[in-house]
Amino acid sequence: MSIDYTERIPNNVDLAGDRRLQRALESWQPRFLQWWGEMGPALPTQDVYLRTAVDVGRAGWAHFDRVRLPDYRWGIFLAERDPDRRIAFGQHQGEPVWQQVPGEHRASLQRLIVVQGDTEPASVEQQRRLGLTAPSLYDLRNLFQVNVEEGRHLWAMVYLLHAYFGRSGRDEAEALLLRNSGSEDSPRILGAFNEETPDWLSFFMFTYFTDRDGKYQLGTLKESAFDPLSRTCEFMLKEEAHHMFVGTTGVDRVVERTAQLMREHDTDDIARHGGIPLPVIQKYLNFHYSVSLDLFGGETSTNVANYYSSGLKGRWQEERRGDDHVLTSAVTTIERPGGERIVSVELPALTALNHDLRTAYIGDCETGVTRWNRILDSHGITGHRLALPHVGFNRKVGAFAGCHVTPGGRVVDAATWAAGRLAWLPAPADKAHVESLMRPVYEPGKIAAWLAPPRSGINGQPLDYEYVRF
Ligand SMILES: [Fe+2]
Ligand SMILES: [Fe+2]
Repeated sequence: MSIDYTERIPNNVDLAGDRRLQRALESWQPRFLQWWGEMGPALPTQDVYLRTAVDVGRAGWAHFDRVRLPDYRWGIFLAERDPDRRIAFGQHQGEPVWQQVPGEHRASLQRLIVVQGDTEPASVEQQRRLGLTAPSLYDLRNLFQVNVEEGRHLWAMVYLLHAYFGRSGRDEAEALLLRNSGSEDSPRILGAFNEETPDWLSFFMFTYFTDRDGKYQLGTLKESAFDPLSRTCEFMLKEEAHHMFVGTTGVDRVVERTAQLMREHDTDDIARHGGIPLPVIQKYLNFHYSVSLDLFGGETSTNVANYYSSGLKGRWQEERRGDDHVLTSAVTTIERPGGERIVSVELPALTALNHDLRTAYIGDCETGVTRWNRILDSHGITGHRLALPHVGFNRKVGAFAGCHVTPGGRVVDAATWAAGRLAWLPAPADKAHVESLMRPVYEPGKIAAWLAPPRSGINGQPLDYEYVRF
């Protein structure tokens, strides 16, 4: 079904055919816009060159135009329904997927949707002030694109809450606008979404590592037996690809510029030449990677095992897996601290599904590190390498919480950790240096000196296109 843009809430779910639901969502809409006004981008603009979804099909789903930010058409877009779709895993494997929520899974499904939904507006709040220091109009436009789409992902989850979870769903939809990132009284649900995103290096690391966690979580919900959730997540993943692109190419460009400055001045100490030194990039990477690993939860979880067996949440690329999709007899190996060392233990695969998802995520993160090192190579910088820290480094959740592990994977005592911390995580001086580089560049085609220009513009537009107008 194509998207109906004549409605107050653009949608492809025939909202007009359900007056009660339509009215409920139309009464949530002004509260969303108020939230956007208060917690969305702080930089005033006239219009922004944005893409808007116009269809959910494979080809030509997006339309690009200049849009006033508050007039962006947030709406409800689900991927096409497959009438033959069947449950791919768990005890209901092979049965038709559900179009309604089974009573016994109501609470669990609602919780999964709320936790996912809570991350979407959180990132908009975290990135609220970044526009004030954008390194170019191209980057500013990408920031706003990510922001409006995260706002739309909130809509996606709120639609499910309103349409399928009755009174308690509507209450949860309200609460999604009341919690705020970093708030003392009512913070966002997950830790990484209460961290600040104070500068653009953090933003690129966030979109690389934390948005990528989102991609993997959505991937498990896309497998859900609850079909509306599956279809919602499938379309969200399509939008999410651009967020990954912003992160990957953002870090590319920082590394590229750093490498250029190192060659040009024949020194590693490029801070005084207006660049971000490689060790600082590594520390930001260490931080964002480790807090993103926390988002996968504990390595083992009986809740998640139950979600899997009952069909609520699958594995990453469930249907491409060559096993029985039930996992009652499968085992897997995980690492965890054992006294002074890190040891491997064998566990039932079913209880280690968070670990399974995290493993897929880590493999994906490695591809970024490989490409950034290739950029260093291409500039003849061979003595330095970027690397993902050990999975136990700086963890607050799971088997490694409360245990001190170096980036290299050595278990150390509290004193050694305290002594190493400034070398492993962004230190006050690193943050102050990065902050000192954050000066806005709003002239079309111009770019801040601490990162390389992008390879091409957006949607075939030239680099000096006026992506944002004031
Ligand atoms: Fe999102
Ligand atoms: Fe995202």
